[in-house]
Amino acid sequence: MMFLIVFSVLSVCVTAGDLENVLKLKDVPAAEAFINSTEVAVIGFFETEAARGYQEFVSAATQMKTLSVALCSEKQVWAKYGIASDTISIFRKADLHQEHLNLSEAKKVDADGLVRFMTMNNVRYVTEYNQASAVGLFQSEVKTHVLLLADRGRADSDPLQERFRDLAPKYTGKMLFVLVNGSEKSNARVLEYFGLKSHDLPRIGIYDGTLDKKWLMPSDEITTERVQTFCDSFLAGELQKQKEAETPEDKTEL
Ligand SMILES: *[C@@H]1O[C@H](CO)[C@@H](O)[C@H](O)[C@H]1NC(C)=O
Ligand SMILES: *[C@@H]1O[C@H](CO)[C@@H](O)[C@H](O)[C@H]1NC(C)=O
Ligand SMILES: *[C@@H]1O[C@H](CO)[C@@H](O)[C@H](O)[C@H]1NC(C)=O
Repeated sequence: MMFLIVFSVLSVCVTAGDLENVLKLKDVPAAEAFINSTEVAVIGFFETEAARGYQEFVSAATQMKTLSVALCSEKQVWAKYGIASDTISIFRKADLHQEHLNLSEAKKVDADGLVRFMTMNNVRYVTEYNQASAVGLFQSEVKTHVLLLADRGRADSDPLQERFRDLAPKYTGKMLFVLVNGSEKSNARVLEYFGLKSHDLPRIGIYDGTLDKKWLMPSDEITTERVQTFCDSFLAGELQKQKEAETPEDKTEL
């Protein structure tokens, strides 16, 4: 794993909030609609509120304000998703992945650990790169990352990011789209890995974890068409025939 940085423990203030406003999934259609409604859906399958991990889940879910969370105790829904005992499940669209945390098998269950679990697994159509998301990105079965190495972080109004976001769902299950805020000090190593300086940004790159190789799209205007052609040339195996992007210091451990 090239630029995977050890994930540091999030310091969180745990307050057991309540989930009164959280959606309770009553049947299979409701569960399907919930999962379909969002890029990353989290469902706490708990038989009762007294179940091991329930309070911790409530606490963690309250802290994860940007995630869509629901609860489900209906056995017919459990059967549909192959749930046999209390489990926290994450359903993702970007890599068509389901992650299940079986609570009866977990050695230790605390709210911090669950926040970490949810943060890591929050892989979206466009995931902003940081120490926590890197873990989830590298654990995905989708090993190819398309990176927008930008001179800023996530900004909904940024036309370039908008083009990037629009393209991402077309590559579901094939490539993960990653936004790197190149101004962030902690991302300096990613720029270095691609042999870029901050004045070179924005640029588009592809990193393939299976080959452990990287390519940069030639610098020019970043249009949807060019990015698409770049991605397609990777999927067609043509990019792999080209020379890898150069890293200035080959020996740099990332
Ligand atoms: C999922 O959502 C899309 C639109 O977002 C819709 O077209 C489709 O019918 C939905 N599928 C299900 C199973 O609800
Ligand atoms: C979770 O673990 C328990 C105990 O090992 C097991 O009985 C149950 O089938 C597991 N659930 C799933 C969904 O694997
Ligand atoms: C990008 O990183 C810089 C430097 O840390 C920071 O000031 C800026 O707020 C970040 N942008 C976003 C949108 O997060």
